[in-house]
Amino acid sequence: MNANGTPRAASAAIYPGSFDPMHMGHLDVIERAAEIFPRVFVAVVVNPQKREPLFTLEERKQMIRAATKHCGNVDVTDFRGLLAGFVKQIGAGVIVKGLRVVSDFENEMSTALMNRSLSGVDTVFLPSDPRYSFISSSLLKEVFFLGGEIEHYVPEAVLQVMRAKRDILRPRTEENRPS
Ligand code: PNS
Repeated sequence: MNANGTPRAASAAIYPGSFDPMHMGHLDVIERAAEIFPRVFVAVVVNPQKREPLFTLEERKQMIRAATKHCGNVDVTDFRGLLAGFVKQIGAGVIVKGLRVVSDFENEMSTALMNRSLSGVDTVFLPSDPRYSFISSSLLKEVFFLGGEIEHYVPEAVLQVMRAKRDILRPRTEENRPS
């Protein structure tokens, strides 16, 4: 509630992630969030904690920009350090997260409570579309670089960048192959 007792409207939402790379599950969450909130900031973490990203920060942001250009109220940005600090810095009213499976919920619940404790900003969970509930960036990278088809699971702009990355990496892989 605001001081005058009216409900607090979430002016802008922030959708944070590694996006290494973005996939259709991410795009689905962004599109749905963009219908709910007046403005959505897709915030790419500069240094993901899990592992060194395959794609540079600029590549990750560029792929999201290309895939969301039809959404007029979506901005792509980046942050380093604590998400709670960045949320306060840009004045977002809500954090958006997608939930695929129950194990996502277990991790996301404590993260959401910590982020609310640090920033006062709540997290809204959007259930993943069942078509994408089994995909993740790391799984898609593994399948793609082992020669599998992933075009149903990533936007066209992402597929192009992934193919270019594979072309750059392939000679190195072949050099290392035992003769
Ligand atoms: O796409 P990912 O890798 O699941 O995204 C994870 C992300 C970037 C949302 C999360 O790691 C994050 O918020 N990192 C920022 C550091 C931070 O605030 N850590 C404390 C969380 S309570």
